[in-house]
Amino acid sequence: MTVKPVRKAVFPVAGLGTRLLPATKTMPKEMLTIVDRPLIQYAVDEAREAGIEQLIFVTGRGKGSLVDYFDMSFELEATMEKAGKSLDALQSSRTDYGEIVAVRQQRPLGLGHAVWCARHVVGDEPFAVLLPDDLMVPGALKQMVAAYNEVGGNIVCAAEVPRDKTASYGIVTPGARDGNRTEVKGLVEKPKPELAPSTLAVIGRYILQPEVMGVLDAQEPGAGGEIQLTDAMARLIGRQPFHAVTVDAVRYDCGTKLGFVTANLALGLADAEIGADLRNYASSSMSQ
Ligand code: G1P
Repeated sequence: MTVKPVRKAVFPVAGLGTRLLPATKTMPKEMLTIVDRPLIQYAVDEAREAGIEQLIFVTGRGKGSLVDYFDMSFELEATMEKAGKSLDALQSSRTDYGEIVAVRQQRPLGLGHAVWCARHVVGDEPFAVLLPDDLMVPGALKQMVAAYNEVGGNIVCAAEVPRDKTASYGIVTPGARDGNRTEVKGLVEKPKPELAPSTLAVIGRYILQPEVMGVLDAQEPGAGGEIQLTDAMARLIGRQPFHAVTVDAVRYDCGTKLGFVTANLALGLADAEIGADLRNYASSSMSQ
């Protein structure tokens, strides 16, 4: 089966980050740092690792620093070079000409609306969506692209969640299972535990066909009064192949205080430079 390659990725980054106030009062939540780099850097690295060539940021007012971050910092680089300092730490934050395109989501109408704002840049090809506050270690998109190359259509990343948490996620009605792939028979956004069709939840990584944009053109508000990506995706089921893929990655929900601090601890402990010292500190403070 020949499938069109996934070359573009949409990063919905216009959200207000209210769950992490006051930290996010003047700083985008995607600029919050896990060990030594902002969340957005992890998502961009994951996309590049999966073969993505164009990064489409859906931003909003007050979020300009996200685009600036990936620009060349001329003064900084010139000053460092003059002082004989290495520019290695800046390497992954550099982008090629035209690698990033930013569009604006002028009103916070929901994830489906954010993705729809990228429709003209996405055009007529499949695309990925990455929600940077879902930090996946190691990156999940590469594994999803591998599944996509086998079955085509639409793919969501999925993981089992406790039943009392279904109201925080898009939930899958599962069909036949084949290895790490489950056929998606239905999708519902944030169902109450007693109404959830399963406990298989959508995690913030998607590979979608461009037809979802046409569905989003007319999508009415759903859960929480927002235009939901889940509702638009649900309409593609039966018309196009649709699978959920479970990946070999740990997910940190960095949109919550606990997830954010846990990610810093886990990645800090695994860090070549600071891991050993951090482990010593953690074990000595726990024995006090
Ligand atoms: C969004 C999606 C939801 C998905 C979740 C994953 O919800 O709407 O379907 O399960 O991301 O993190 P949000 O967390 O933005 O409320």
